Amino acid sequence: MKIGLLIIATNRYIQFVKPLWDSVKKNFMPGHEISMFVFTNMPETPEGTIRIQHEHTPWPGPTLLRYHCFTKNKQALEGMDFLYYLDADMLVVGEVGDEVMGYSIATLHPGFFDKPKNMFSYEKRPQSSCYVAPHQGENYYAGGFNGGTFSGYMTMAEVCRDMIDADGRKGIIPVWHDESAMNRYFIDHPPSIILTPSYCYQEGRTLPFRQKILALNKNHAQMRS
Ligand code: GAL
Ligand code: GAL
Ligand code: MN
Repeated sequence: MKIGLLIIATNRYIQFVKPLWDSVKKNFMPGHEISMFVFTNMPETPEGTIRIQHEHTPWPGPTLLRYHCFTKNKQALEGMDFLYYLDADMLVVGEVGDEVMGYSIATLHPGFFDKPKNMFSYEKRPQSSCYVAPHQGENYYAGGFNGGTFSGYMTMAEVCRDMIDADGRKGIIPVWHDESAMNRYFIDHPPSIILTPSYCYQEGRTLPFRQKILALNKNHAQMRS
C-alpha cells in the first residue's frame, strides 16, 4: 500500500524531521511504500522526503490551519492509499503495523484515557462549531497522531477546515485548535479504529501502555517563536 505521512514543520520545527524520518523508516508500517510529505517554509528537508512549500503563521496557526494545508495540497497527495498525520516532534520507537489501517483512525489522548468525561478538554462554548455538550462524547482524542484512507482522512480534513473557518468568522479560536474540531468530528463520525495512547505516548511520563509513538518533551514556547 502507498502510505503518505503528513508532517508540518515550519521554522524551528524542521530540526525534528530528520530523526522522525529515520524512526519512520525503521518502525512505521514496514513492508509498505512510505512517502513523507513535509510542509515547510525551510529550504531543505531530509533526503527521501517530499518537500511542500508551506508558509509559517504565528502560533497557533501551524496547528489550527493544518486541515487547510492538507486540503489545499490534496492533488499532491493523490495516489496515496492511506494518510497519517504525525506531530513533527515525535519519534516512532516501536513497530506500528497494519493495525492502524482503517477508514479513519483516532488515538486516545495520553492525558485523558483514565479521566472522567467531565474532565475532557472539549470545546465548551456553544457558539463554536466544535462545541461538545456535557452529555456528548465518549473519548478524548489526541491531535498528534491520526489518519485514515485517502478519502476517509480528506473527508475529515475538509469538515474540520470548514468548522475552523466558521469559528474564525465569529472570532472564535477553538480551545485546542485542530484537536477540538477533530474531537467534534469524531463524535459525529466515530473513528473506525481507536488506538491506545501507545501511539501518542508522552515522553517522561509513566503510562500503562507500550511506547510506539513518542511525543517528545520540548520547550513549546521557545519552539513556537
Ligand atoms: C495537552 C497537550 C495539548 C492538548 C491538551 C488538551 O497535554 O499538550 O496539545 O492536547 O493536552 O487538553
Ligand atoms: C496537541 C497535539 C497537536 C495539536 C495541539 C492543538 O496535543 O499534539 O497535534 O493538535 O494539541 O493545540
Ligand atoms: Mn508537541
